This record gives sequence, C-alpha cells and structure tokens, in this order.
Amino acid sequence: MAEQVLEREPARAHELSGPAAVIAAMVSPEGRKDPYPLYEELRAFGNLLHVKPGLVVAVGYAECTRVLREPRLLVQDDKNYDLIYPNWRSHSSLRGFTNSMLYTNPPDHGRMRRLVTTALTPRTVASMRPTVERMSERLLDRLADLGADGSPVDLMGEFAFRLPVAVISELLGVPEDKQVWFREVAAEVMIALEGLTNVDELARADRAMDDLSEYLNELIERRSRTPEDDLLTRLVQARDDDGDRLTHDELMGNLMLLLNAGFDTTTHLIGHGVLQALERPEFAERLKNEPGFSVGYVEETLRFEPPVQATSRWAATEVEVMGVRIPADTKIVAIMGAGNRDPRRFPDPQTFDPDRTDVQPLSFAAGMHYCVGAPLARMEAQIALPMLLRRFPALAVAGTPSYRDRWLVRGHDYVPVVTR
Ligand code: HEM
Repeated sequence: MAEQVLEREPARAHELSGPAAVIAAMVSPEGRKDPYPLYEELRAFGNLLHVKPGLVVAVGYAECTRVLREPRLLVQDDKNYDLIYPNWRSHSSLRGFTNSMLYTNPPDHGRMRRLVTTALTPRTVASMRPTVERMSERLLDRLADLGADGSPVDLMGEFAFRLPVAVISELLGVPEDKQVWFREVAAEVMIALEGLTNVDELARADRAMDDLSEYLNELIERRSRTPEDDLLTRLVQARDDDGDRLTHDELMGNLMLLLNAGFDTTTHLIGHGVLQALERPEFAERLKNEPGFSVGYVEETLRFEPPVQATSRWAATEVEVMGVRIPADTKIVAIMGAGNRDPRRFPDPQTFDPDRTDVQPLSFAAGMHYCVGAPLARMEAQIALPMLLRRFPALAVAGTPSYRDRWLVRGHDYVPVVTR
C-alpha cells in the first residue's frame, strides 16, 4: 500500500480540465483535507474512466473490485519501475519495498505470501486477543496518568499509534524501546513513496530506510543466532532453509512491509473510529454498552474513512475490464475511498451508519493482494474502541485535531483529548 499511486502535478493543475483537473485537485493540499466531494465530481465522469493516456481510474465499488481481482492487471514491480523511472534503484526507500510481496507478481508473490500467512493464520490472530486486551489496558493506564491533571493528551501519539505498533512488534519480536522510533522512520519512508516527483522527500525517505534496514539487519542476525518463538524467527528460518524460499532482500522487504503496513494504517482506523464516536455520543454509548456493536462500527469506519484511500495496478498487455479497453502500459488507480461511497452499492453513502449490514468495504483491497493483516487490524480496533470509551466516560476532543497532509494514507497526526 506504500505505493506511488498518482503523480502530483501542482504546477500544472490550472492548465488541466475534466477528470485530470479533479485528480490534480484531489492530491492538492486543499483536496487532501477532504477528498470525498472530489470523488463525487470524478464519479460524474464515469466509474472506470480514462483520465489521460496511460492513466485509468476506478471510482465505483464494482469497478475497483474487478480491477483488483483481474489477474492480468499486475502490481508495479521492479520491471515496471525500470520502465517508468530508470533511476529508481538509486533510492534505497524504493528498493526496500520492491522486494516485498506487495510489489511482486506471480509466481513469486504466492511463495512470499504463503510464508507470512502460514505464520499469521486466523487462529494465531484469535489467540492474540488476550494480548491485545492486556496491551490496551496498559496503554489506557498510561493515558490516565498523562491526563490525570486534566491537561490535553495526544490520542494519536499516546494510544492509536502505540497499540498497533506494540502488537506488530510483539508478533515480530521487536523490543519495546524501539517502538516510538519506528513511528518516525516509518512515516518518513511512507511519505516518499506517495510520489516520485519530490527529490527532497525521497532523500529523507532514503535516510529513514537506511536506518531501518540497519536495525532490521541486526535483528535478523540476532534471530539467526538465537531463534525465538516469533514471526521474525519463522521468516529468518524460511530464508535459511534452502535459500530459494526467501532471499535476504525478500526477507528485508517483507519485514519492512509488515512493520509499516502493520501500524501506520491501523493507527488511523483507531483514530477515525474514536473521532466518529466523540462526534456522535449515541455511538459512544453503544460502543461502551452493546456487546458486539464494535464489529459493525469498525466495518463502517473502514468504509467511511479508509486509512488507505487507493492503490494501483499496471496493464502490461491490453486488457478489457467491464467493457473498458485498457491499452498496454496503462496504470489503473483503484480509489477505494470512492468505491466505498458508491451510491449503487451503499444507500445514503455519505452517512456514517454502523447499523449497515453486508458492508464488505474495499479498504483492505481485494484479490490476491488482499491485506494479510485485515483480521488483526479489525480485532485491534474492535477491542480498543470500547475499552477506551469505557475507561474514560468523559473523553472529549480538546483542541483542533490536525490531519496528516497526505492523500494516500489518510488520518490524523494529532488529536488532543482530555480524559476527565
Ligand atoms: C486498518 C488497517 C489496515 C489497512 C487499511 C490495510 C490496507 C491494505 C491494503 C489496501 C492492501 C492491499 C494493497 C494492494 O492491493 O495494492 C494491504 C496489503 C497488505 N497488508 Fe494491510 N492494511 C492494514 C493493516 C495491516 C496489518 C495489521 C498488517 C500486518 C500484520 C498488514 C499487512 C499487509 C500485507 C503484508 C499486505 C500485502 C499483501 C500482498 O501483497 O499479498 N496490513 N493492506
């Protein structure tokens, strides 16, 4: 998902018209604050539309699903990067992720994905429930201490981020003292992958990627010498088993992916979920008191505010999708944030309604790259939201939350709250 989805073209935005102008507005600083009205402007042009030569955008629910499930549409891998950006290998931040399953097509994709999914089965995730509850409890104790004198506390930094990072770190076996540092480096790495056009940002991402690689290399070394009962050890052993199950670069790429995908996104799911509940006290009450309500609530939060707004695929050969001819060498962007508000699929789509049934949001994508961590992310949010609201019945926003200025991974940097 840390994928370079749309180029930013602010300098030429005023020269554009039609869907291209809407897209330029969408990724502009103003548009990023609230892209949803712009998705409706885009939808007026069609649900699967040619924006310009080489770029098709899917806006509808069915169209996004078909694009993501179409086996002839590929993820952008190293060969594709060679075509569009010959210099990309000089950037460690880009090289780092291209070795992961998210940037790999069949047959290698299946090999990598199986190694992770066999270590992250629904049963493993279910067995983590008590751990997630214990971690939430600890973080809530900390939040209570920080806000004991009535001063505002940052909900994102102190809770929404700390829980997913603690969970993925526990899974991978990353020690606690590195977890806050991870937030900073991961943010740097993810920022640059949103666009290739800003060289300063790429330089920052490269530095962050180098630091992260150095640290992960040390961790891999440690697990090679002293195996433990964690996902990291299983992946290291897969590399060591017979060489061709997972190369060292693939191990690094997938660790990088798991770490970043594992918390940057879930943080924002929790953040969006809390803010919706604080804006609508009736939902906060139901989260506190109604067993099982958090399941539908989290699905609706995923639909309404997907932390990952879009992803992209690549047509290496000409493909026809739902009657639309997509020439070879075209990028297809599936805007899941728009598909989740498709009026043909969801009645009254602009309304947050946790009582909806059959939601199945596009937020974890679809098809062969469907998010490996979806059950874990859902479970974390389903546990964290009721626990937080029960623990702090007077929880309230105390200031202006700030959005991170990004289109692709959408969420807040900072949400000041008082806990009493
Ligand atoms: C709310 C939280 C999350 C959201 C919204 C999310 C979203 C996504 C999306 C949209 C994709 C597919 C991208 C594409 O097809 O191009 C994806 C893939 C992936 N996600 Fe997540 N994710 C979340 C949490 C997690 C967690 C907790 C983990 C790890 C434990 C994780 C690991 C992965 C991996 C490994 C892939 C790549 C799958 C593949 O390429 O086969 N994600 N995620």
